[in-house]
Amino acid sequence: MATEFKKNILCIGAGYVGGPTMSLIAYKCPFYKVTVVDINPERIAEWNSDTLPIYEPGLDEVVRTARGRNLFFSTDIETEIKQADIIFVSVNTPTKTFGAGAGLAADLQYWEKTARQILECADSPKIIVEKSTLPVKTALAMERILTSTDSGIHFEVLSNPEFLAEGTAIKDLENPDRVLIGSSQTEKGLQARDELVEIYANWVPRDRIITSNVWSSELSKLVANAFLAQRISSINAISVLCEETDADVNEVARSIGMDSRIGSRFLNASVGFGGSCFKKDILNLVYLCRNYGLDEVADYWENVVKINEYQKERFVLKMLKSMFNTLAEKRIAIFGFAFKSDTGDTRDSPAIFITKKLVEENADIIITDPKALKNAKKDLEGVEGSIDYQIDPYKAAEKSHAIAILTEWELYRNLDFEKIFQSMNKPAFIFDGRNIVDHQALFEIGFNVYPVGKPALTHFK
Ligand code: UDX
Ligand code: ADP
Repeated sequence: MATEFKKNILCIGAGYVGGPTMSLIAYKCPFYKVTVVDINPERIAEWNSDTLPIYEPGLDEVVRTARGRNLFFSTDIETEIKQADIIFVSVNTPTKTFGAGAGLAADLQYWEKTARQILECADSPKIIVEKSTLPVKTALAMERILTSTDSGIHFEVLSNPEFLAEGTAIKDLENPDRVLIGSSQTEKGLQARDELVEIYANWVPRDRIITSNVWSSELSKLVANAFLAQRISSINAISVLCEETDADVNEVARSIGMDSRIGSRFLNASVGFGGSCFKKDILNLVYLCRNYGLDEVADYWENVVKINEYQKERFVLKMLKSMFNTLAEKRIAIFGFAFKSDTGDTRDSPAIFITKKLVEENADIIITDPKALKNAKKDLEGVEGSIDYQIDPYKAAEKSHAIAILTEWELYRNLDFEKIFQSMNKPAFIFDGRNIVDHQALFEIGFNVYPVGKPALTHFK
């Protein structure tokens, strides 16, 4: 069977990165057999069902086309390792919660288990591709594990970081700004690199496939995320100043963004960034710098995370202060729990922090989100307090004292706020953590409106 295909590609880890990436490779390249394995059998069962484990616009269609043709999801990791020519490693690398580097360094236990498993099962040469975000020099560690026995099998380790953003994963994969492949500069390294280039060249223009040494590639991923997060923290820092003055952060962002050296994207002030990457990768970078004794550099990047924490804390304090310094038994509707729109992912979502803080104030919380309620329930498991879930935003808003918009779902822009206002407790408050609704119109309806980075619009004398 396998001989029908030009190449056998395997991906270990069927998560937010591995799942969509491999699905798209299979979709674009019917002549490769692409298999995705995971230790979690439920996850694999979901990938094989009509209800995929992650929500991502366009993903269903891609999977439906390729699954069973040249895309397979399996739990039989050992067999698949044996059959693979190229193995992508896309397992989770969360921030360590224990021991040295806790709270900063990446926890590499899943990743190391994978390296050992490849070594145990492989009986022919393989190209190993790092897809997970990893600390610099991880490829070296992987190579050391893979050459730790005298199996005589050659493993060539490449770094090929994934730059897709959730919510636009399929678009980003189909039309990436660039694909980066890091390899060792040996003959075998360059050969392996060219094999990977050949895969992407099936749909990505050659001039967007760039190559580098392994360490530059690993570092580029951390630095790209650090720069993106830095932009958000920069505009969020300015949002505080705008709230204190008569400036409007959107107007400031628009004018600075028109400077082509600055650029207009990623300048939306918000309740803070979330997601599985930004904080983790910056802390990784901070850890790396401290390791080399570069404390000034480490402090510089660490402040990007600190401003983000400050922005989330500030949001809750603003709610408390404007609602007469007490939230006890007040019903608060959280509009949006996902860390951004068009995803059900809630990893490190600002909504988690904010909900917990509001619960500490004894508020009654009702959470609505079109895709993330299942994850929200998991995130808040064991949190003691009054928390409810409601898919319908109108019902969520009923009898509430305040609405806090925490995710920029398109849906929330176009709600009937007149109807919502009528159903709420008065005075009705709205805290727009994403600046997505028409603040003036809401104020005119009767809401007390608190945007980010703009003076509040209130009916209080
Ligand atoms: C990010 C990188 O964009 C991607 O290249 C990398 O591969 C993984 O990390 P992701 O975390 O999926 O992707 O989403 P992204 O669109 O970057 O948003 C991250 C967070 O920043 C979200 O919480 C988002 O709401 C927030 N954000 C984004 C802002 O607050 N303001 C902005 O202007 C942009
Ligand atoms: P990411 O956002 O980086 O894709 P996820 O947590 O969504 O991270 O996905 C990582 C996946 O890797 C999970 O589904 C997890 O079960 C899987 N995984 C972790 N360790 C292993 C392993 N040793 N073998 C196979 N799969 C693994």
